[in-house]
Amino acid sequence: MKNIVVLVSGGGTNLQALIDAEKSGIIKGGKITCVIASKDGVYALERAKNNDIPTRVIPRKEYSDSVSYSKAILEALNDEKADLVVLAGFMTILDECVTKAYAYKIINVHPALIPSFCGEGYYGLKVHEAALAYGVKVSGATIHFVNEKADAGAIILQGTVEVQKDDTPEVLQRRIMENVEWKLLPKAVSLFCQDRIEII
Ligand code: GAR
Repeated sequence: MKNIVVLVSGGGTNLQALIDAEKSGIIKGGKITCVIASKDGVYALERAKNNDIPTRVIPRKEYSDSVSYSKAILEALNDEKADLVVLAGFMTILDECVTKAYAYKIINVHPALIPSFCGEGYYGLKVHEAALAYGVKVSGATIHFVNEKADAGAIILQGTVEVQKDDTPEVLQRRIMENVEWKLLPKAVSLFCQDRIEII
């Protein structure tokens, strides 16, 4: 059984999708053993506690830079004996001290079709604002491995939704979450935990 450590920064609907998938047997070969939040008081922590999952808070604001923050995250991941790290709405870019130590063991969900609307500065609603401003007719989400460059690691799964004429960023975000993120993230995690992802 692989130890899955989930990193969160907000509401945690993707974490909830993972918890539900584990409970219903969709995730095979892995178990969520810890949830780490970059901020205290976020609702994702409640979701973990409601499901008896141990939590840690490592507040980003208590660290002066990304390197010192990433070192603290690395220590926690090692402590937790993480086999897989899932960034589920985690809004901090991790330094290479983490991405190198956990190469091909960190999975991120990004709410757009990489390589569009991704990289530094594209997170949360900003991604959907940019997609609507550009006028794309299709958007979606990407599940990918995390490497040294933001949103540039190998793609595992992608799924699409159609953009509707009157979409707001919030409406588009919700459609992508419901139809793509909450389904494909648990699927990718399950594939990883069964060693069914081939790295070429
Ligand atoms: C999700 O849409 C996720 O794809 C996005 O933030 C949202 C978090 O929601 N992540 C990023 O933008 C990371 N670059 P959640 O906290 O309810 O899972």
